Amino acid sequence: MRKKLVVANWKMNNTQDEATRLVSSIVSQINGLTINNVEVVISPSYVYLKEIVELTKNDEHISVAAQNCSEHLKGAYTGEVSSQMLSSIGVKYLIVGHSERRTYQKESNSLLKQKVDVALSNNLIPIYCCGERLEERNAETHYSVVENQLNEGLFHLPMDAISKLVIAYEPVWAIGTGVTATAAQAQEMHQFIRSVISKKYNPTIANTISILYGGSCNAANASELFACKDVDGGLVGGVSLIANDFVKIVESAISN
Ligand code: 13P
Repeated sequence: MRKKLVVANWKMNNTQDEATRLVSSIVSQINGLTINNVEVVISPSYVYLKEIVELTKNDEHISVAAQNCSEHLKGAYTGEVSSQMLSSIGVKYLIVGHSERRTYQKESNSLLKQKVDVALSNNLIPIYCCGERLEERNAETHYSVVENQLNEGLFHLPMDAISKLVIAYEPVWAIGTGVTATAAQAQEMHQFIRSVISKKYNPTIANTISILYGGSCNAANASELFACKDVDGGLVGGVSLIANDFVKIVESAISN
């Protein structure tokens, strides 16, 4: 059975006190739940990673992700953080290719390919983000855009590496807008992503990889999204800053 994940992408939010309060509240509420096949992942900014690894280390259902890393292994890259550093403090996942980084930092698929490689070589599990812009959906090029993001950023990987990965489909038009993809739109794109992986690799690998949905996911719509056959959880932005609502999303993943 594929693992379900609910990932809290805090983006560039929270002061030290807010971060500590938020993670403490999430941890205490998650502790009270019966969780089988769901992993909760918290992704704060770099400065809180070590503390959050510490605060979550006693809960086997909670892990930590970084939001970015350098494409380089180590060396004279002032201001950068390496995947090896992240791995050495107990970070498990790495968000790669979030649309905000593709847009604001101009990250290309070929750069993301390098980040995927350094992450895997340092035992971080990439959560590789893909998704089309509104104009691409309107022009009905959304499938080819997503396929291209997968092709150029991921499909150089051998079978044993690709099967370790998590993919997140985040339509750009749904991020932070309050406009969620419908369950049907999410399901058809997730099914498409799985079919592309199946063609490139094989059906077993395609069925192993967890594919998360992200984009205005909230306590009210999570259940319908997570009930879709090919949706294996969520990558949550804004609502992950509200402990009670985020935990409701986790509960939706548990019950679907
Ligand atoms: P929102 O949940 O705020 O739409 O953000 C989604 C996202 O970008 C998660 O990575």
